[in-house]
Amino acid sequence: MQPFKSLSDRRIQTLFPIVLSSIILLGVARLVLDSLKSNHSHILRLYGRPNKGKSINKVPIVVLPKDRLEKGCNVFEGQWVWDNVSYPLYEEERCPYLVKQTTCQKNGRPDSFYKNWRWQPHGCNLPRFDPLKLLDILRGKRMMFIGDSLQRGQFESMVCLVQSAIPEGKKSFHRIPPMKIFKAEEYNASIEYYWAPFIVESISDHATNHTVHKRMVKLDSIVNHGKHWQDVDVLVFESYVWWMHSPLINATYGSPNHVKEYNVTTAYELALKTWANWLESNIKPLTQKVFFMSMSPTHLWSWEWKAGSDENCFNESHPIEGRPSYWGTGSNLEIMSILHHTLSKLRNIDVTLLNITQLSEYRKDGHTSVYGERKGKLLTKEERADPKSFADCIHWCLPGVPDTWNHILYAYLLNTFQNFS
Ligand SMILES: *[C@@H]1O[C@H](CO)[C@@H](O)[C@H](O)[C@H]1NC(C)=O
Ligand SMILES: *[C@@H]1O[C@H](CO)[C@@H](O)[C@H](O)[C@H]1NC(C)=O
Ligand SMILES: *[C@@H]1O[C@H](CO)[C@@H](O)[C@H](O)[C@H]1NC(C)=O
Ligand SMILES: *[C@@H]1O[C@H](CO)[C@@H](O)[C@H](O)[C@H]1NC(C)=O
Ligand SMILES: *[C@@H]1O[C@H](CO)[C@@H](O)[C@H](O)[C@H]1NC(C)=O
Ligand SMILES: *[C@@H]1O[C@H](CO)[C@@H](O)[C@H](O)[C@H]1NC(C)=O
Ligand SMILES: *[C@@H]1O[C@H](CO)[C@@H](O)[C@H](O)[C@H]1NC(C)=O
Repeated sequence: MQPFKSLSDRRIQTLFPIVLSSIILLGVARLVLDSLKSNHSHILRLYGRPNKGKSINKVPIVVLPKDRLEKGCNVFEGQWVWDNVSYPLYEEERCPYLVKQTTCQKNGRPDSFYKNWRWQPHGCNLPRFDPLKLLDILRGKRMMFIGDSLQRGQFESMVCLVQSAIPEGKKSFHRIPPMKIFKAEEYNASIEYYWAPFIVESISDHATNHTVHKRMVKLDSIVNHGKHWQDVDVLVFESYVWWMHSPLINATYGSPNHVKEYNVTTAYELALKTWANWLESNIKPLTQKVFFMSMSPTHLWSWEWKAGSDENCFNESHPIEGRPSYWGTGSNLEIMSILHHTLSKLRNIDVTLLNITQLSEYRKDGHTSVYGERKGKLLTKEERADPKSFADCIHWCLPGVPDTWNHILYAYLLNTFQNFS
C-alpha cells in the first residue's frame, strides 16, 4: 500500500535525528567532571614519565594452535548461541569504569538474557578470551579506540574485559578530554579512547559540548587529531552514526572558509580519503596495526523484523533468529561500499575491517532502550513509560554486544602479533 510505504520511508529519514538528538546531549552533564583535568601537560606526564630504572620485562607470549583462527574461517558468519556458562565475560557491577549510559541492570532493566549470548562462527571457534594474554600482547604498547559514543562503548567494554585481571593499585583511569586512558601499570600498557565522531576534524570535536544538530565537518583536516594518534601501536577506528543525521551535511573542503552542503555519501568518501592519506604518511606498517569497525546497526523499527508491528527495540529479549542475513535499513550499504573501496585503495598499509554489522544486526535485544540516559541523566519514570519516544536503540548495554566485537578484535591480535614487534 502506497501510503504505508511512504510513511515508513519518511520515518527512516526523520526519526534517526530524533533518537540521535536525544543521545547526543548526554555528554553535557559530564562536562564538569571531564574538564577538571583538561590540559595537555597531563597527557605528557602520563607518557613522558621516564619510568626510571624500571624496565618492563618482555615475556614470550604463548599462542597455542587452538588459539589461532583457522585460515579461511570467516568469523563474521555464524549465529548467536545461548551460553550462560561462559558469557558474560565480566559482571556489570564488578567493572567500576562503566558510565551509566551502559549499565542497563543497574538502571533497572528487568531481563538479563542479552548478556548470555555467545557468537559462534559457522566454520571455527573464537579462542577463549584471556585478559592476561591480551595484556602480554599490549605490553609496552598503546591501543586506542577512535570514534563516537558507540566506539566509547567498545572502549569501555575492552577496559572491563581486562581490568579484573589487574590488582587494585596497578591500574589507573584518566579523563583527559577528548581522551580517556586506562593503564595497566605493570605491563606499561594502555587502552585509550579518543572522541572524534567524524574521524576528520569538525565543530563537534569538543568531548562533551557538541550537538548533532549543528554539524560542520572539515573534510580535508585531520592533523590536529592525528598528532594524538601517530605513535599508537594499535588503532581502532569507527565513524558512522553522526553522518546519518540527515542526507546533507555542511562541510568544508579545499578552502577552509567556504562552507557548503554535501551529500553525506560524497562527504564520507572525502573524509575517508583524507584519513587514508594520513595513514599512508604517518603509520609504520611494520610496527603499527590499524583496524576499522564497520557500522554498528540500529533497531529503531520493529516492523523490520516483526511485520505489522510499530515499535522499536524496547522489550526485545532475544536475538533475531531464523533470518540468516537479516539487514535493517539503518545500515547503509553505500557507506559500506565506500569503506570497502577506500580500504582496498591503500598502498602501504593494511587496515583490517572488522565487519561486525551483520552479527550485530541480529541483536535487537542488546540496546539500552529505556535503561540508558538522555541528556546525561537516566530516564524519568514518565519517559520510561513512553519507549516509542525515548528508547535508545543505537547504544548497547554492557556487558553485551560490544564484548563480542572485542573478542573478535582479540582473536585478530592474537593471530597477527608475531609479525607485530
Ligand atoms: C542457564 O540456562 C539454562 C538453560 O536455559 C538454565 O536451565 C539454567 O538455570 C541457567 N543457569 C543460570 C546460572 O542462569
Ligand atoms: C612504556 O610505554 C610507552 C608508550 O607505549 C613507551 O613510550 C615507553 O618506552 C614504555 N616504557 C618502558 C619502560 O617500557
Ligand atoms: C558550548 O559551545 C558553544 C559553541 O561553541 C558555546 O557557545 C557554549 O558556551 C559552550 N557551552 C559550554 C557549557 O561550554
Ligand atoms: C548548513 O548551514 C546553513 C547555515 O548555517 C544552514 O542554514 C543549513 O540548514 C545547514 N545545512 C545542513 C544540512 O545542516
Ligand atoms: C547524493 O547521493 C545519492 C546516493 O549516492 C545520489 O543518488 C544523489 O544523486 C546524490 N545527490 C547529489 C546532489 O549529488
Ligand atoms: C514485553 O513483552 C512481553 C511478551 O514478550 C509482554 O508480556 C509484556 O507486556 C511486554 N511489556 C511491555 C511493557 O510492553
Ligand atoms: C560486510 O558484511 C556484509 C554482510 O555480511 C556484506 O554485505 C558487506 O559487503 C561486508 N563489507 C565489506 C566491506 O566486506
